[in-house]
Amino acid sequence: MRVSLMAVALGAATLFGSAAFAQGDVIAERRAGLKRMGEHMEAMKAVADRSGDVRPLAPTIDEMIAWYRSMPDRFPPGSDKGDTRALPTVWSERPGFETANTNMVNQLQGLRTVAASGDAAAFTSTFGQTGPTCGGCHRNYRARGR
Ligand code: HEC
Repeated sequence: MRVSLMAVALGAATLFGSAAFAQGDVIAERRAGLKRMGEHMEAMKAVADRSGDVRPLAPTIDEMIAWYRSMPDRFPPGSDKGDTRALPTVWSERPGFETANTNMVNQLQGLRTVAASGDAAAFTSTFGQTGPTCGGCHRNYRARGR
């Protein structure tokens, strides 16, 4: 009896330990992914600024679309604790957070269409609305500074 209770206690400790580890990972991974999204935006801005060929940007935008589709799952309950700038509203105002994310996916789909068309002027114009779409989420769901 004593032994099996001990086993249960150890099992629980192990489970707790791995859950805590996974939680740390989820924050680090989403931050790394978002940093990468920022780098993609910089790279696309450079192409737009020099009126370069926008067609090769389509695969990058595909990657961004796939990332933002996975975005809500990267903010599971409990991942408000730790080295994160996500505001509590990500969880307390979930429908708004998900709407801001859906707007992002839709905006990127539009951007992908103009990139694939090779129309640099249309790309620049649609790209100009893409940064503000990022900001549309940050305004309510990401803390400023650190
Ligand atoms: C649906 C909401 C949402 C959208 C859309 C969104 N972000 Fe964010 N972003 C966040 C949140 C929340 C954080 C804070 C994440 C954390 O610290 O855990 C963040 C953090 C970041 C960071 C900091 C990453 C780090 O190093 O910690 C960058 C860079 C970033 N976002 C870029 C972007 C760009 C570029 C776009 C648009 C292409 C974008 N985000 C769209 C919610 C969003």
